[in-house]
Amino acid sequence: MESVPSQYQRVLSGMRPTGRLHLGHYHGVLKNWVELQNEYECFFFVADWHALTTHYEDPSIIEKSVNDMVIDWLAAGVNQGLAKIFVQSRVPEHAELHLLLSMMTPLGWLERVPSYKDQQEKLKEKDLATYGFLGYPLLQSADILMYKAGLVPVGEDQVAHVELTREVARRFNHIYGREAGFEEKAEAAIKKMGKKNAKLYKSLRKKYQEEGDQEALSVAQALLESQQNITVGDRERLFGFLEGSGRVILPEPQSLLTKASKMPGLDGQKMSKSYGNTIALRDDPEALEKKLRTMPTDTARVRRTDPGDPANCPVWQFHEIYSDESTQNWVVEGCKSAGIGCIDCKQPVIEAVLSELKPLQERAREYEEQPELVGTIIAEGSEAARDCARDTMEEVRQAMGLAYK
Ligand code: TRP
Ligand code: SF4
Repeated sequence: MESVPSQYQRVLSGMRPTGRLHLGHYHGVLKNWVELQNEYECFFFVADWHALTTHYEDPSIIEKSVNDMVIDWLAAGVNQGLAKIFVQSRVPEHAELHLLLSMMTPLGWLERVPSYKDQQEKLKEKDLATYGFLGYPLLQSADILMYKAGLVPVGEDQVAHVELTREVARRFNHIYGREAGFEEKAEAAIKKMGKKNAKLYKSLRKKYQEEGDQEALSVAQALLESQQNITVGDRERLFGFLEGSGRVILPEPQSLLTKASKMPGLDGQKMSKSYGNTIALRDDPEALEKKLRTMPTDTARVRRTDPGDPANCPVWQFHEIYSDESTQNWVVEGCKSAGIGCIDCKQPVIEAVLSELKPLQERAREYEEQPELVGTIIAEGSEAARDCARDTMEEVRQAMGLAYK
């Protein structure tokens, strides 16, 4: 496994701009991002080109959603000081890397990605027999490899794309990481680390190669990361030399599986825009209250005096997320004995959702009132991402024989 030890890993994730975000996104994805940004160097981006692969005929929703989505991220606590927040199309290097990777990616790898057929089936009304749609997972690989990300937080449906990315990276390194005099260059690089570190590196390498000692591999990788005196090229050589391959130009990422959000929708199904059962992060409090007050309950409770069963009620799923034990006990008893009415039962949920969203909506309002501030955050984040992307592209062009002078 050609991965880099955790404390040095970069995290990268993207989201398609397809409208305002809801509580499902918040509990499923954004809270996770907010935690990650404190631990890792994070890159979070708006995948506008990805959205075009399915919305090429009417991109208006994309255009409307880009800034709105960033406002939702910021409102949820994603912080532009801790994470680089950017828009994919503002870093055109992604297109260049996608193109270059496409040269060496077998067609079969893309045709076999499960989402390719699934989505075509699911979105029958759209013509998805396009070149762009087939290449979509490879564009995602370019997004990830561009930043040499180690960890990619994604949902279950995206794991296959990260897996493809690993294969593409491996193939890339295999083809372009070979160079004349690799061993000699690696030996020379070892010397540059100084006597003590050189000795340590060699013994760890031996341990890993002869005994398969994973711990030795991790320690050696950490040692390489901490070297200040060697060049990027030498570091890549030594990563590869450690594992007996060529240079590792594009390290293989790993997916960081985001647990499926438990957030139910208003009808008890998974919260999703396509089911029309969402609570948007920026629904105004009255609308929100109304949605919850009118949401369905156990159909057995026709009259106030009919007992019900929380197991058959979407409101109960909200209590499971938002209520403490004593409130939950009150619900179960009151429902089964018809001691409480459904409106009484919903009240604590309404209060909990309102108070969860209050600070978030206040923050959102600050950004809504300063659209130029949002523009600046995106511009600065995109510039920072671009700096990093330019470095990677220089290496990639060099490796592929495109650095003509
Ligand atoms: N394909 C992802 C989705 O539909 C979005 C995405 C694009 C992404 N590029 C990415 C996610 C890179 C993680 C890493 O949700
Ligand atoms: Fe659902 Fe509560 Fe009404 Fe029972 S009392 S049916 S749990 S809303």
